[in-house]
Amino acid sequence: MTQTSSTLGIPQTGQVPCHVAIIMDGNGRWATQRYLPRSAGHVRGVQAVRRVVEACGRRGVQYLTLFAFSSENWRRPAQEVSLLMQLFVRTLEKEVDKLVAQGVRLRIVGDLSAFDAKLQGLIRDAERRTEGQTALTLTIAANYGGRWDILQAAQAALRDRPELARHPEQFDESALAARLSMAYAPEPDLFIRTGGEQRISNFLIWQLAYTELYFTDCYWPDFGAAEMDQAFAWYQDRERRFGRTSQQLRPSA
Ligand code: FPP
Repeated sequence: MTQTSSTLGIPQTGQVPCHVAIIMDGNGRWATQRYLPRSAGHVRGVQAVRRVVEACGRRGVQYLTLFAFSSENWRRPAQEVSLLMQLFVRTLEKEVDKLVAQGVRLRIVGDLSAFDAKLQGLIRDAERRTEGQTALTLTIAANYGGRWDILQAAQAALRDRPELARHPEQFDESALAARLSMAYAPEPDLFIRTGGEQRISNFLIWQLAYTELYFTDCYWPDFGAAEMDQAFAWYQDRERRFGRTSQQLRPSA
């Protein structure tokens, strides 16, 4: 599918965001506040993932993208990295049937070569089993980084079209965008970051060019349908101009 680039054209927008991208932050602090190990926060974080997938499905969101593990998260203590991997494996094993029943297509994006063979196999299997589902595309970004994505897309473009090296002026936006790991999805309409920090942390840095950015203090394990509705209400008040003036959008105002 060809997606409308927010810099080359004007994407269609609606009351409900078509694509929601979330940085699920605050698991550790949620747990620490309760004198629990950080792992307890991640376990509760999986429950929030379930709630949000359901809420998005019911509200007609077509793409939901969750940042589960960044290229930089390997810098965490080995024990926490290992717990996150186990959680990932367990969740894939347990949840795929439910995703199929809900009509959810699952995609995992990121540099998957860093994961062990079992996890890579589970990922391929889960993607295959949910292929063809149309209610919602759930993308989990794992060992993902926006800079990694842009680099791998540029490398792929040069591999596929070696003449671009000799004619760099022909290297255009679409040559790159078509090779990003989420080329199947439109650019996000709404970005949400929980946990109080206000940064993008190397998430979908190419695709967030014109995305509405929403930050909430709510820790991820506490996030659910009500918090999602607050974010959607905030989104509905945005005027998405994509470089145009207000007057162009509402000549009578
Ligand atoms: C950020 O909180 C959260 C993560 C790095 C991991 C997110 C993972 C999950 C929600 C569970 C696994 C998800 C799936 C899809 C199986 P943090 O640890 O940085 O929290 P802190 O900032 O309070 O320390």
